[in-house]
Amino acid sequence: MASALDALVAACGRALLLAALLSQLDPCSGNSELSTAVNITWSSINFKTILQWQPVPTNYVYTVKISGINSNWEKVCVHTKETECDVTDKLEKVKDTYTAHIVSEMLSGTEKFEEPPYAISPKFTPYNQTKIGTPGIQTYELTDSKLKVLVEDPLTPYRFPNKSFKSIREIFKNDLEYTLYYWKDQSTGKKEATTKSNQFEISIDKGENYCFFVQATILSRRENRKSQESKVKCTSDQINGVAAYGTEVIIIIAAVAIVILIAIIGLSVTLYKCKKTRAAKEKETMPLTDV
Ligand SMILES: *[C@@H]1O[C@H](CO)[C@@H](O)[C@H](O)[C@H]1NC(C)=O
Ligand SMILES: *[C@@H]1O[C@H](CO)[C@@H](O)[C@H](O)[C@H]1NC(C)=O
Repeated sequence: MASALDALVAACGRALLLAALLSQLDPCSGNSELSTAVNITWSSINFKTILQWQPVPTNYVYTVKISGINSNWEKVCVHTKETECDVTDKLEKVKDTYTAHIVSEMLSGTEKFEEPPYAISPKFTPYNQTKIGTPGIQTYELTDSKLKVLVEDPLTPYRFPNKSFKSIREIFKNDLEYTLYYWKDQSTGKKEATTKSNQFEISIDKGENYCFFVQATILSRRENRKSQESKVKCTSDQINGVAAYGTEVIIIIAAVAIVILIAIIGLSVTLYKCKKTRAAKEKETMPLTDV
């Protein structure tokens, strides 16, 4: 009797501990077979946002309900057995602050709970919290003493009425700044320049090659201000690298190429002639032994 009671107390204790660990909800509510979601996270980049949680459901399903501060609750991912839900479409008012409820429900229609248990997500404001992805380098050009770099904004999943995707520039406007980090090839001293447009034009030392990358900053943010860094590009390995060299170099390269071409043609003609002559000679001297 005592040991049974002990076991019961111990089990209850463990259950309570687990419930307390796993959920902010009252562990006595709902049904013991239903787990409520835990570890709820918003995973968001360039305004594409996925809500994730745990655990994988066994004999029940989840439904996500989401709402901004002054909007109505909307359902997404109804009766899902997944542990994630793409909520991008519900967050288009990007400056609003959203909360999600992840409802756990039994699928069997016979059992109806008064109110199925749910877990509450942390709050999420896309404008302040979505991560900014890698900016692209659309073009770059090294002229005599200037390096010009044109940055390509990351795109969001949101569209204009004409169906083309909005870029992060269309959402952040002047709140978005780009920084160009650049340095002389083979050296380590980095310099930087910033712009509120997408174009850099910086003065550099003539005749040097440069390497650079760009990064976006959201000026109004306190956290998560910087984007991922773009790839590093070097003017020494660019395909449009001819622009980096003076016309003299191009002329010299062309001249060398022509000389080589002429040499090859000349050589083949000579070889061909030689062969012909030898063949003719061989014909003449056929009956005789080699000279
Ligand atoms: C919640 O996250 C913690 C820490 O990452 C992990 O130890 C725990 O197992 C997770 N909970 C579930 C139910 O998966
Ligand atoms: C669609 O509309 C936006 C804004 O009105 C405009 O900036 C963009 O160039 C348009 N895209 C196309 C493909 O017409």
